[in-house]
This record gives sequence, C-alpha cells and structure tokens, in this order.
Amino acid sequence: MTGAARSARLLAFAKINLDLRVLYRRPDGYHELRTVFQTISLADRIQVAFTPARNTAVAVHANVDIPDNLITRAAEAALDTMRLTGRLEFALDKRIPMGAGLGGGSSDAAAVLLALPVLAGKPLHWPALLKLAAELGSDVPFFLLGGTAVAIGRGTELYPLPDQKPRRGLVVAPGIHVSTADAYRRLSAELTMESQQNKMVSFQSAAWCASVPPSAEAQASYGQNDFETVVFSRHPELKSIKRRLLKLGARPALMSGSGSAVFGLFSERDKLHRALQSLREERVFPITLVSRRQYYAEWWRRLGAHTKENLWPPQSRYAR
Ligand code: C5P
Repeated sequence: MTGAARSARLLAFAKINLDLRVLYRRPDGYHELRTVFQTISLADRIQVAFTPARNTAVAVHANVDIPDNLITRAAEAALDTMRLTGRLEFALDKRIPMGAGLGGGSSDAAAVLLALPVLAGKPLHWPALLKLAAELGSDVPFFLLGGTAVAIGRGTELYPLPDQKPRRGLVVAPGIHVSTADAYRRLSAELTMESQQNKMVSFQSAAWCASVPPSAEAQASYGQNDFETVVFSRHPELKSIKRRLLKLGARPALMSGSGSAVFGLFSERDKLHRALQSLREERVFPITLVSRRQYYAEWWRRLGAHTKENLWPPQSRYAR
C-alpha cells in the first residue's frame, strides 16, 4: 500500500498530581496508588507525518536527546495493533522538563496513540487504546482523557471528574532528575497498614474537593504527595521551593508525581505575579489548568481536518 502523507501538529500537555498517595507494593512489583491527575497548559509540540508504505520506518527528530523515546514505542505498537505499515516522521519540540514528574514522555506517547489511527484512517476503539497506553506506562492512559481524573490501581484505572474552575499557577522545575523506580523503592520501605487506612480516608476528602468547587479554605487544606518526604530528604532545595511557594500565597504547593517539579496554584493574580518575580532565578513556567473540555477542543482543532464525527476518541474520516 502506498499513498500521500497525512500530517498534523499536535500539542501534548503536561500533568500535575493534585493529590498522590502510595498505599502498598503489589505482588506484580507495582504500587497501589490513589491520585488525582490534572492536565496543565505546559506542552510539548509534536509534528507528525504518516505515509502508507510496504515497510514500517519510524524517525523522531527532537530538540533534545531522549534515550528510549516513548514516541517510537507508541507509534510501533499502534501500527502493529492496526495491522498497518508505513513511514512515520516525528519532529518533537520538547518543552516539558524531563524526569520532573510532569508526565511529558507519557503525554507524547498518548498523543501518538490518539493521532495515528486518525491519520492512518483506521479507528482504534477505547479498550484497545487503553490497553496500548497501559503497556507503555502507568501515566499514559490518563492522557487519553485529560482534564481532572482520579486514578487508582497502578494509576491506569481512571475515573473522570467534572472540570474544575480555571486556575492559574506556577511550575518550578529546578533541573533535578528523580528516578521514579528509585523513589518508589525508598517510599515502599516506609509503608505500613496503619498509614494505608489513614491515606484512604484523606484521599477521599481530596477527591471530593477536586470534584466539587471547593471553598477557599477547603482548597487550601487539600492536596498531599507521599513522595515529598523521601524526595525532599535527598533534595532539601525542593522543600525550600515548596515553602517559598506557600509563603508567596500558593494553595496548594506540592511536588508533582515522584518529582522533582514543584507547583503552586494561586487564586489571586497579583500574588502569582509577585511569586513569578520572586522566583526569577529558578526555572519557572506560568501555567493554567487545562479542563477536559479544553483538552478535547484542542484535539479537534489539531485533528479536525482528518475526522468526520464528534466522537472521543477521534474517528478517522478515511475509515471504511
Ligand atoms: O509504569 P511506568 O513505566 O511509568 O513505571 C516506572 C516505574 O515506576 C516502574 O518500573 C515501577 O518501578 C514504578 N511504579 C510503581 N508503581 C506504580 C507505577 C510505577 O512501582 N503504580
């Protein structure tokens, strides 16, 4: 099969964890989680071109060196599942800091899973996409949904929450690379049955706060990340960034995922501007929370030329 190239410019948004509890190590080696994911406006740019061809060849040109790029793995897995072959060219403009707990690699992979079936003219249905996503990494399925969502299990069992009111914030990424597997190992040694019970209860409150528009006080009191203790003890500078954000009026101020990025959300614009000034010497990204509605709208804007119906996940207009 040969044909003309079909191309698109994609945005792959980062995530933060509005709450993250690690309960216990499971027999499969993964840890049982309770978390609230949230997409944010910080995003990688991905240009993709697909040309049907007899053999598959995937090339990724990126502005940074990325060992074991998830884009390649996602592309090959998607083509395999669709039983298609072809040439794929990606140009990746990486803007999400790597190894920072912001899910950049996972979001890139999900962007590929959503776009390829549309460009190749072969829809992949939700269960197939979810399975592919979970095989690529624990955070990947969330990026098929976007917005705000509770995740349990390994992080791949998702429950969408209603869109939050738009909020602004800052992400501080001090360039420290934290190994996720290592952070889990160190945290695992400290987990007890008693802490599990407490975490379940406090997570329920956090999920409740994330699903109904909370009062200012409630907003200020929710949000916890279990990784902070183990990661802050190795990198005290992250703890002081969190303290500074809180002092500058952020509510909450939390580390994202297993770190090292720390974010703060602000209800007042002038406090946010003052914080931005005050943290000038750090690598800081102003952000807004991206709702599911905005997430989907961006996808239609990017892939609309290749889709026929207003369905999620997008269905190709080339599909028979
Ligand atoms: O699934 P992913 O490849 O993103 O996970 C990276 C590593 O993080 C895993 O190899 C595992 O060590 C750890 N992990 C875990 N429990 C989870 C998710 C990840 O132990 N729920």
